[in-house]
Formats: sequence, C-alpha cells, structure tokens
Amino acid sequence: MAAGAVHKGSLLGIEHLEVAEMESILRLARKLNVNRPQPLLRNRRIALLFYETSTRTRTSFEFAAKALGATTTLVQTAGSSIEKGESLLDTGYTLRALGADAIVIRHPSSGAPSHLAKHIGIPVINAGDGMHEHPSQALLDAYTILQHKKTLQGLKVAIIGDIFHSRVARSSIHLLSKFGVHITLCGPQEFVPDVAATLAKGLRIARNMEEALHGADVVMLLRVQKERLSGLQIREAEYVDRYQMTPEKLRLAKRDALLMHPGPIIRGMELTSEVADGAQSLILQEVANGVPVRMAILVRALAKTVARVGNPRKSTTAGKVSTKTKKTTGGRASR
Ligand code: MLT
Repeated sequence: MAAGAVHKGSLLGIEHLEVAEMESILRLARKLNVNRPQPLLRNRRIALLFYETSTRTRTSFEFAAKALGATTTLVQTAGSSIEKGESLLDTGYTLRALGADAIVIRHPSSGAPSHLAKHIGIPVINAGDGMHEHPSQALLDAYTILQHKKTLQGLKVAIIGDIFHSRVARSSIHLLSKFGVHITLCGPQEFVPDVAATLAKGLRIARNMEEALHGADVVMLLRVQKERLSGLQIREAEYVDRYQMTPEKLRLAKRDALLMHPGPIIRGMELTSEVADGAQSLILQEVANGVPVRMAILVRALAKTVARVGNPRKSTTAGKVSTKTKKTTGGRASR
C-alpha cells in the first residue's frame, strides 16, 4: 500500500462516506447477530486503542469482534506506554508489529484516527475523535430509526443540546442530511452557534423547544460535554429550565416520536427519568444495536472474502452481502 494511502476498510467519518457504503453497512448489520456468532474474522486480531473513557462503544466493539471470532486487546492510556510519552504513531506501529490486523481508536484530538490511518496501512476505525466524528454511533442510530420507520427520507429530526462540542451530532448531521432528513438543531447560542447551520445543506436552527419539536418524528438529545467546555460557564438551572426534555415537552413532538440519546445520559440535566425510561425512549435499543452495527463495520474492515452471511457455502465480498431487504436508492435508506 502506498505511503499516505488509507486502507479502504477504514471508517474515519461519515462526512466523506458514500450513501451506498452506509446502506451496505446497515444491510450487513441486519444479517449479523451477536447471539448467532459467525467466525468471519477467525484468527484476526483487533486492537482497541482508547485514549478516552468509554463504556458502550468499547464494550460493543469488543463483543462484536468476539462474536465474529476475532481476538481483541484493549490498550488504554493508563497502564500503557502512552503514559510514558509514546506517540500515537509509535503506539500504532507497535500494535501492528504485534500482529494487529485493525485498530479501533478513540482519541481526544480531532483527526487523530485519520493521521494514524495515513501511516499504518491497516484498517483504522474511528470510535470518536475529539469534537469531530463518531461514525459508528451515527450508523447505529440510523439502524435504530429504521427499525421503527420505513425510510429516513423526509423524516423530521430535532437534535437538541450541546451540538457544538458533540462528535455524535456532527456524524449524525452528515448522515441524516445525506439521507434526506429535515434536521432542526436546538439549543442556546453557546451550544448551537449560528455557524452550525453550515454543517450540511438545509439545516434549521431553533432556539426554543416548542419550535424544534413541532412535528418531529425523532428527537435526539445530547449530553452537555462538560469535559470539552474549555472554561465556558453554563448556567445549569437556566439550561435545565429551557432545554431539559420532560414528558410535557416531549408531547410537543409527534405522538409516536422516537426519543434517542447516544449516552451516557445525565438524568436531571438534559432529560428527566420519566423521559429516559418512558415508552418512547430507544436509549437502550441504541446501545444494543451497537453490537450488530459494529460487527458489520469490522467485517467491512477485515473480511476480504467472507462466507455469505447465513449461507456459509457461498462466498461474497464484504459489504456486498446480498439481502432480501427492499432495494434502496441513494439518499433513501429504507428497511
Ligand atoms: C461520545 O463518546 O461522544 C459519546 O458517545 C457521547 C457522549 O460522550 O456524550
């Protein structure tokens, strides 16, 4: 592989990912099941390189890899040579020399996964980089919505909360806008600056919940990213008063609106417990869907030729697993 070339199994962000690629990942995810393990990645080694804390993303990548028969190892800042000052690239080269076939990386600096991918020659999967992107979360959220709605095209989605500091918001905005979703961003200036409207075509900004929620099919809440506020002071009581999701506010959206949150949720801050545990909440479903979607991402990354999912006698190319699901056209993901 030429120096500087990124392995095509890498997943670095949604912004530059084709709609067809995303549809292919979602189709593959529907064929994979953690409870029916398939050894598509037997003898493959996957390093989970986490410079930041994680519960859902790390565990689901690990369960996903193991359900596919791969071996995983976790490298975290504490207890590794990163603490001694080893650079990102040197850690990457070390993992590759040890036999890693792919690296799943979470890093506090935006662009760190791309930097690694340009040098390492093996697939690099971005599990969240700074305030930049969190592509697997956006894909699993799309997968979750499509378990309840026939298509993404034309849906009204309200994304509420700390959008400026959220990599989840950035990835979701790119994904949803590519699929023809009408997106409204909602929050105070410091979390939703006017410039946020330029992230994708047709974004709308609302400063109050009533306006954002009117007619919404899906409501995505975001955590206040306290670790990224860099000195910015927020008036919590005022934020809670204006933007906390309560059962009353949720009633402003469509009656069957889906309530989503990438987690971790902070009860009493961006939402109340009644909302988090309510009938419309898909929060734990999102968590569970992290496993099949990340299985698909790992298969796409590593399986050159995989046994046809569900039919081991035939073989096909990863990402092109045939499916009986409805044929979809670009920009119109449907179930
Ligand atoms: C992330 O790592 O970005 C999480 O999934 C969302 C959050 O931390 O609020």
